[in-house]
Amino acid sequence: MCGIVGYSGPGNSVNSIIEGLSRLEYRGYDSSGICLKLNGELQVIKKEGKLDNLKEILNKMNPSSHTGIGHTRWATHGAVTTDNAHPHGNEIFAVVHNGIIENASILKKELQAEGWEFKSQTDSEVFLVLLTKFYKQTSNTLQSISKTFNLITGNSSFVIIEKASDKLYGIKRSAPLVVGENKETREAFVSSDPFALVGFAPNIYFPQDGVICEGVVSETEVKFNFYELDLKPSTRIKSQANAMTMDANSKGDYEHYMLKEIHEQSSLVDKLAGFYIKNEGRKVIEDLDKSIPAAFHITACGTAWHAGLVIKNYFEMDNRIRCFVDIASEFRYKNPILNKKEVGLFISQSGETADTLACQELCTEQDIASYSIINVEGSTLFRNSTKNFLIHAGREIGVASTKAFTLQALTGFLMSRAMSKTLDKPEVYQEIITLSQRINEVCENSEQYKTVAENIFHKKGFIFTGRGTYFPIALEGALKLKEIAYVHAEGYAAGELKHGPIALIDEDIVNIAVVGPELFEKTVSNVEEVKARRGVIVTVGPKNNSELEHLSDFYIGLNFDGLPNLAPLMVNVVLQFVAYHIAKLKGTDIDKPRNLAKSVTVE
Ligand code: F6R
Repeated sequence: MCGIVGYSGPGNSVNSIIEGLSRLEYRGYDSSGICLKLNGELQVIKKEGKLDNLKEILNKMNPSSHTGIGHTRWATHGAVTTDNAHPHGNEIFAVVHNGIIENASILKKELQAEGWEFKSQTDSEVFLVLLTKFYKQTSNTLQSISKTFNLITGNSSFVIIEKASDKLYGIKRSAPLVVGENKETREAFVSSDPFALVGFAPNIYFPQDGVICEGVVSETEVKFNFYELDLKPSTRIKSQANAMTMDANSKGDYEHYMLKEIHEQSSLVDKLAGFYIKNEGRKVIEDLDKSIPAAFHITACGTAWHAGLVIKNYFEMDNRIRCFVDIASEFRYKNPILNKKEVGLFISQSGETADTLACQELCTEQDIASYSIINVEGSTLFRNSTKNFLIHAGREIGVASTKAFTLQALTGFLMSRAMSKTLDKPEVYQEIITLSQRINEVCENSEQYKTVAENIFHKKGFIFTGRGTYFPIALEGALKLKEIAYVHAEGYAAGELKHGPIALIDEDIVNIAVVGPELFEKTVSNVEEVKARRGVIVTVGPKNNSELEHLSDFYIGLNFDGLPNLAPLMVNVVLQFVAYHIAKLKGTDIDKPRNLAKSVTVE
């Protein structure tokens, strides 16, 4: 979602801001903009569409400025237009915003009644106008930020620059914000993501909600001051060295990040097993059997929710621990029944998903422990959880999540084995190594999935089906296809089709049926029902199976041997390839599909 980068220092702010925004492009956006201090004035330049459009304007202007803020916008309030792009600026301030001001329409009406004018349809401009109003009353920027922030509701982060100085200001509530400094070069930075600051700011600070950050650059030093809303000094900041690296920021020989990330899965699976069974991860996971909760409440969104459904199977089958799995945006508003002997388990790649964070907060308020299965170390969810189980997927750049899903589910499997005290059984490690090898074999067969894709990509709709542990895989296969190929796809439990969706079936609908070894005959019967109605049948099931071969228009045979628990993760990689090849044939923007954001920081 929206990306923010701010700079103040002796260098040309344009370079660091544009580099930072480029690094955040993967998060998804629809317009971009920058505000630079040029000859003592604030100058806003913005453009609808890709960052390249903004770069083109800047290349022509070739500006040099020591202070600026930049933004990539993912529209929430107001259409995708240049006027609605950020920064929003006037003769005193310029502001960029990530999040939603929930009471914006009420505040806007009040301000309009007082005679204030608005140039955009955004909620963000309300912050600018309020800030300006208070500044005109007080002539004090910190006070104006505090007063404005006190008036607005909702989760947001804001970064502000002003005509009167070269300072950078930031403040947030339940939205990501990081500030950083480089003492050697005397530069101050602010961003919505520490990744934008890699290589620029060795020291970074994470302010807590409601802390005003003030970056000051002088002839001799750079420093950040932190204030509470009453303007007393604040200590509610976590400081750390920026440990992120840029390694993952290259596609190598792959055409897309998504393809690269699909291929990475085999070795990451291998490494994760080593980490949790044999190396440092062991101490994180091994004491899970000491305090087994009465139940887990798993909450997550999208792909991570699908991983939660897979994990529920592991926990319940291995340990008979009751597991509730909820979509985070539902859980947070359903007044869930929680008790202190239970644990909230949050699954998130980014650790910044607004709804998942709200569920974690709710569990903390109700005094139940929070465990997270998480990729981004240092993210908000990571910082707020009682225990973190890192999935060590490395940076996932493709907006459609692939490797994170596999490693989330695998981490859940390892946690489950730790709880059942079977982590050390040789067959556990062996099964994971087998999974890693089979994913490799799947990757080597990519051409086969491409051929299938070539035969079905033009069809009207796709119904993915599976039973038991393959049902979440059907959901995930359908999600992957719709998000990157922009075609209609649904995941269903195979036995559920006849209760409604079978009405859709005709020769223009494809059934991608996962037929696992369990409940094989029953799942085959469900496929027969679709075939009888002239649906196109693609099956993914045990190899060398003449029944499947006979039944299917396209049959993808896999080796399920030695994978009693983890075969669904192998099958999922096949579905990732099918989605990828269909999307390629459709010519979509695979790594940055339209309308999507990598990290959904608004609810
Ligand atoms: C789909 C996808 C999303 C995310 C969801 C949660 O490919 O990536 O559905 O899984 O937005 O994101 P995280 O895991 O960052 O909380």
